[in-house]
Amino acid sequence: MSTTPWWQASVIYEIYPRSFQDSDGDGVGDLAGILERADYLAWLGVDAVWICPIYPSPMADFGYDVADYTGVDPLFGTMADFDHLVAALHERGIRLILDFVPNHTSEKHPWFQEARASGESPRRDWYLWRDPGPGGGPPNNWVSQAGGSAWTFDEATGQYYYHAFLKEQPDLNWRNPTVRRAMYDALRFWLAKGVGGFRVDVLWHMIKDAGFRDDPLNPSYVEGEPDFRRVRPVHSADQPEVHEIAREMRAVLEEYPGERLLIGEIYLSVERLVAYYGADRDGVHLPFNFNLMWAPWRPAAILALIEAYEAVLPAGCWPTWVLGNHDQARVASRLGRAQARVAMVLLLTLRGTPTLYNGDELGLENVPIPPERARDPFGLNMPGTGQGRDPQRTPIPWDQTATAGFTTGEPWLPLGDGHESRSVEAQKADPESMLALTRALLDLRRRERALSLGDWHTLAVAGDVLAFVRIFEQRRLFVVLNLDAVPKNVRFEESLSGRIELSTDPKRTHDHVGDRLELDGDEAVIIVPR
Ligand code: GLC
Repeated sequence: MSTTPWWQASVIYEIYPRSFQDSDGDGVGDLAGILERADYLAWLGVDAVWICPIYPSPMADFGYDVADYTGVDPLFGTMADFDHLVAALHERGIRLILDFVPNHTSEKHPWFQEARASGESPRRDWYLWRDPGPGGGPPNNWVSQAGGSAWTFDEATGQYYYHAFLKEQPDLNWRNPTVRRAMYDALRFWLAKGVGGFRVDVLWHMIKDAGFRDDPLNPSYVEGEPDFRRVRPVHSADQPEVHEIAREMRAVLEEYPGERLLIGEIYLSVERLVAYYGADRDGVHLPFNFNLMWAPWRPAAILALIEAYEAVLPAGCWPTWVLGNHDQARVASRLGRAQARVAMVLLLTLRGTPTLYNGDELGLENVPIPPERARDPFGLNMPGTGQGRDPQRTPIPWDQTATAGFTTGEPWLPLGDGHESRSVEAQKADPESMLALTRALLDLRRRERALSLGDWHTLAVAGDVLAFVRIFEQRRLFVVLNLDAVPKNVRFEESLSGRIELSTDPKRTHDHVGDRLELDGDEAVIIVPR
């Protein structure tokens, strides 16, 4: 019997619920919609779905402003819908991971309403209040991730409150033990319902410097960049005490059977990131590693990143990789359509648990949003800085009808030109589609433990070609990726001769390779050596 936890061999699929499937014609996706697509998720072959927030929310940040941690927003459905979805996914062998947003609540959360009512409120200390700084301005120079100062003045009580994001998202005071207890009880509520774990929103922001010291200015800030680049968040984020919280959350998960998974959202370099596994591997199981999203798309840079990550990964900890999410530009827009296929091969053959963003399996690109349809407050607050996240949050095209089978109403964000040919229906019928490639990769990954659990070794970096080996017990698989559009004729010291098990060009699958490998432009192959 294997002692490997389920999530090490798994692929996680991120669902942005507003845009996945609408069931009631209001143009916004919902839980019953996800249920309708449960068979698709099983057909695709993912092991777990992480669903972005579905809690009651005023939707200032589309659900990342939570007004009740143990409810479901009517926009998304009911608690009964949630329970049905968990059951339907479990029947298909898929776990449901919830998005937990502990750093901040909505300003409409009763806790904040009570806290702001008076300086004497017993809930006052649940949030971060400070007197004005000298001259009546904000208490310090901390900058909101959503633009502008991170402090908002509250007329009624004459103090400022802190918000790392929107002013509608006041930060909780995680140094207060009562806050911790209340939030851990919210975790227990969902754990008892059978969720497979949590993705913890902005974990690295949860504790701030106790003395609220100014952040140092960022010398490399360039005018026109988003505000948060103005300072280096030395005191406002990634504080040592945050690891205590990760440890406590982990302990709450461990009160329940079934290896519940704790993932942390952490935008840090690999060197800082790995601290979130915990000093005794008692922190989060998987601190999201986003660094592949910024790595220059060159073999040497990617290899350097993989090696740097593997080098700092503490013993016994499991890696994880991400190529896209609801906050970042679509991978097909960053790298181009052809390289997005190569990137999918990379994501699903690297050592570590991959997270796949819904729509990336269709090769969706950023959808241009006309200004009058822009919805994301980050974009609206920081115009001209490219911070708007609507383009990567557009609805999933399911079929070739005008509203793509996503809704019978008006989709909350536009579908984008050419959505018909990108639809699941169209791509299911095309063996050369991105969807077919993704599904074949997921299938191969499930069959080949070398790809999921195997060791990883570099084979070569030759110009534009990156090659590595995955090994499990005696089984070896070579992965060779051409990161360029020009065909390559490659020969490595170690003979590649064998059979192509999978190629981005399905016509090449099952071809035999000898000492030399002719790689087409934008081609990636997985080879089973002889
Ligand atoms: C995370 C979420 C993002 C949200 C922010 C504030 O980064 O992924 O969508 O806006 O936290 O909660």
